[in-house]
Amino acid sequence: MNHMGMSKVDLASLPMFASSYNEHCPFLSEVNQSNQGQAKAAKMDALLKQRNFECPNEECCMFKGAEQSEPGFFDTVNGLNEDEDGDDDVQSAVEMPELQPLTAEGGFPGAVEEESVPRFFGSFCNGFTNPAKFEAATPPVVRSELEAKLGKLHDAGNYREFIDIERQNGAFPKATRHEMSEEKHITDDVTVWCNNDYLNMGQHPKVVEAMIGAIRNSGCGAGGTRNISGTTHYITELESTLAALHDKEAALVMSTGFVANEAALSTLPGLLSNCHIVSDELNHASMIAGVRNARMPKHIWKHNDLHHLEQILKGIDEQHGPEVTKLIVFESVYSMDGDIAPIKEINDLAEKYNAITFIDEVHAVGMYGHKGGGVAQRNGESSRITMISGTLGKAFGVFGGYIAGPAHMIDAVRSYAAGFIFTTALPPSVSAAANASIQHLMEAQYLRDKQQEQVMKLKSKLQAAGLPVVWSNSHIIPLMVGDAKKCKIASDILLEKHKIYVQPINHPTVPRGTERFRLTPSPLHNDEMIDHLVAALDDIWNSLDLSREIPAEYDDPNQGPFVHDVDTTVPTPTRFDWDLNS
Ligand SMILES: Cc1ncc(COP(=O)(O)O)c(C=O)c1O
Repeated sequence: MNHMGMSKVDLASLPMFASSYNEHCPFLSEVNQSNQGQAKAAKMDALLKQRNFECPNEECCMFKGAEQSEPGFFDTVNGLNEDEDGDDDVQSAVEMPELQPLTAEGGFPGAVEEESVPRFFGSFCNGFTNPAKFEAATPPVVRSELEAKLGKLHDAGNYREFIDIERQNGAFPKATRHEMSEEKHITDDVTVWCNNDYLNMGQHPKVVEAMIGAIRNSGCGAGGTRNISGTTHYITELESTLAALHDKEAALVMSTGFVANEAALSTLPGLLSNCHIVSDELNHASMIAGVRNARMPKHIWKHNDLHHLEQILKGIDEQHGPEVTKLIVFESVYSMDGDIAPIKEINDLAEKYNAITFIDEVHAVGMYGHKGGGVAQRNGESSRITMISGTLGKAFGVFGGYIAGPAHMIDAVRSYAAGFIFTTALPPSVSAAANASIQHLMEAQYLRDKQQEQVMKLKSKLQAAGLPVVWSNSHIIPLMVGDAKKCKIASDILLEKHKIYVQPINHPTVPRGTERFRLTPSPLHNDEMIDHLVAALDDIWNSLDLSREIPAEYDDPNQGPFVHDVDTTVPTPTRFDWDLNS
């Protein structure tokens, strides 16, 4: 908060809000030059008044104090300067005025058609739609079939609702929640406990600065595909950092982790004369899509079951001859149970049966290994893995995905994968920010240590409170609810009453009966926040009379034959602790 009691919002990200106010302000007039929406000024007045923001321009009156500033927009917003207590806690003091949602045409409030009626509110469709207008474009049978399908999700408590939040740079893990209804637009400060920006690198000053610098240097977009429009130098640098991160010969950046998995797995097997894909049953949807699109023989092995994996590999050899290529596809950290694959044993089998391996380290990169290269690196196994895939959007805090591996394989994906070739490249800013983040995390062991410390504290406190926590082997902590509707209600209460945001995880993401919360502590979730979360959960478990037992139908993959007895006083428990120092 600054002296005028305004919370910080990045104005540069809100050019439409900044188009025509405070003409004396050099920052806003600069923004104005690129946004000539003067005619919309009056309509935007209403929107602006909903938002408390602070001008990022250091020369601005906002930073000099109200006495010195020229009268402008900020001085005229009633009630923004002080709340009734005399402090500057704007969020609690200011009742947010009404916000009119955008129109179906993407227009501004005031331009809403007379006959329009509000239909959807939420982050996927913030607006008024005119049913007559839109129904005309949809055959009734399509509407009724789709509405029936959506109704089923509602009935089962599995309808996904987006929570509209605005992360606050510098205040992680806090965020502002927005809620829009027909009547009003409210905002609320919440603590987020389900974020996959696991180490808060998305707000790290080095990362933010790298992104801004690249925009100043090269502008916003990549300008097209890498083939047609040229590869931005920022991507070249990023790929060389990624290869170094994983100690691999080459790396290739893609639009997202999903695309990286799909593109690599759908392409590579088809380039080999006879390739059988052997895929873990709990692999992520992106790997399933890749395996499916490869249209090559596939075999699904029971999750982390080495015996089953060996049976399959042996069976392929016996039926098709040992020279047939086998591609073993698996993840390191499984995102819903937090369990970790037996990487060493899988590599042993791969060697024994002359198979190649593809590991998804999406939930591990940045957080495990001496450079943040993932669990395979931590376990001293990455040199035995053929190809690694990762994301730039979780622990690295930015956006994008990649694969790293032998140069000939990377080149083959680069040259043949539709998902890589026929799409616009990552923007320079995103590439620069991701590069800065990886480079920082390659050195920042303290962040990995602190994260594990907070993870251990939360697990221990949940257990001490008698809550049904799964003692996972990673930073992902499942807390079992076991009922879709109760999970949603508990999540709503957490949000409304305790100002805590944890998304319910329901079917089909997890099997029915194992609905859960998925908690992801970061180094910045401090002890006070942990205590607050545990007390809130305990309160909800009591008031909803939720079971404190892990559901019988939950087959905990963390409790397989490779799990050691966990000493709760030792940080970073994994089933492969013997490899920690290698
Ligand atoms: C295991 C796994 N792989 C891949 C992805 C996709 O990564 P991205 O979000 O970068 O598309 C995800 C998802 O979020 C994931 O959980």
